[in-house]
Amino acid sequence: MKPHTSNGHPNTEITTRSLLSKKTLPIDETPEILSLRPQSLSGYIGQPGVLETLHIAIEAALKRKEPLDHILFHGPPGLGKTTLAHIIAHEMDANLTSTSGPALEKGGDLLGILTHLEVGDILFIDEIHRLPKVVEELLYPAMEDFAVDFIFDKGVHARSHRYRLKRFILVGATTRVGLLSSPLRDRFGIFRNLDFYSVEELTLIVKRSAALLDIAIDDEGAYELAKRSRGTPRIVNRLLKRVRDFAQVRADGTIQKETVREALRLEGVDEKGLTDLDQRFLKTIIKFYKGGPVGIEAIAATLQEETDTLVDVVEPYLLKIGFVIRTSQGRKVSEEAFKHLGFPYQHKLGLG
Ligand code: ADE
Repeated sequence: MKPHTSNGHPNTEITTRSLLSKKTLPIDETPEILSLRPQSLSGYIGQPGVLETLHIAIEAALKRKEPLDHILFHGPPGLGKTTLAHIIAHEMDANLTSTSGPALEKGGDLLGILTHLEVGDILFIDEIHRLPKVVEELLYPAMEDFAVDFIFDKGVHARSHRYRLKRFILVGATTRVGLLSSPLRDRFGIFRNLDFYSVEELTLIVKRSAALLDIAIDDEGAYELAKRSRGTPRIVNRLLKRVRDFAQVRADGTIQKETVREALRLEGVDEKGLTDLDQRFLKTIIKFYKGGPVGIEAIAATLQEETDTLVDVVEPYLLKIGFVIRTSQGRKVSEEAFKHLGFPYQHKLGLG
């Protein structure tokens, strides 16, 4: 996405509603992943409860001619948190400034952004659980009173000056809601979890994206792709592009069930949509820890992967489909997962 104006902050983008529209961007600058995302609530598939909350909040705010409450979206990656922030900006006809927790290293980074916001502007902070403490503390009065306090000098000479901000809307996103402090959590008026999508919802997303990409896909092909996308729109859209490449190079340019199967075999995605990392995660517990229970740190060390990646990206879907079970002693692999991977299941009496 192209920055609309520069406010001197790296990793911070300001976009307007018009810049999100495909028409105003030259073709070679159209970010394809963005163009596959719906731009309005009416084009959004899935998350019906969240959509209804947003519909009501937006309509009420527009009626009262007031900004929306601050909004927090939480849930696994790829389920639409960023997309929804863009949609809210579009529906409110507001500017969106986009940044992330790790990009805001110092108080000054956030102040520079806050002081440039206009009334009704949306500030989107991705990975908000990774905000440094000093930056997070600046956010409290900014969210609650639309003001920031500057402190000059120290000790007995300390003076503070309150700087008024324009009434903005904070949209936060996190994959780890448990890591958010309660003062921050409590300042969001709308607090919604995004859950994995059903295969039926993902099938509709595949069909919508295929139409946008101008590629023919039949019902069985769309269903097969949806089934293997870990309940995640970002994955379904990424895999659709790989299957489209495969169909155009190795087949007749159209997508059927068999095209999906062959293309995903090359991608290392199995019948359940598990990737190489998912499989290595499960096999590590089975082979090195006899199916568990085992702590996540031990699994990460054996796999030589970041614990955060396993907790944020790998585990949520495996827990959702019941392949992994969390117990007080650690993670266990289920009987179903043993069978899926072709291992004989050894039931351990009295464990876990
Ligand atoms: N593309 C990505 N996510 C989508 C969604 N939830 N609805 C429609 N299209 C999408």
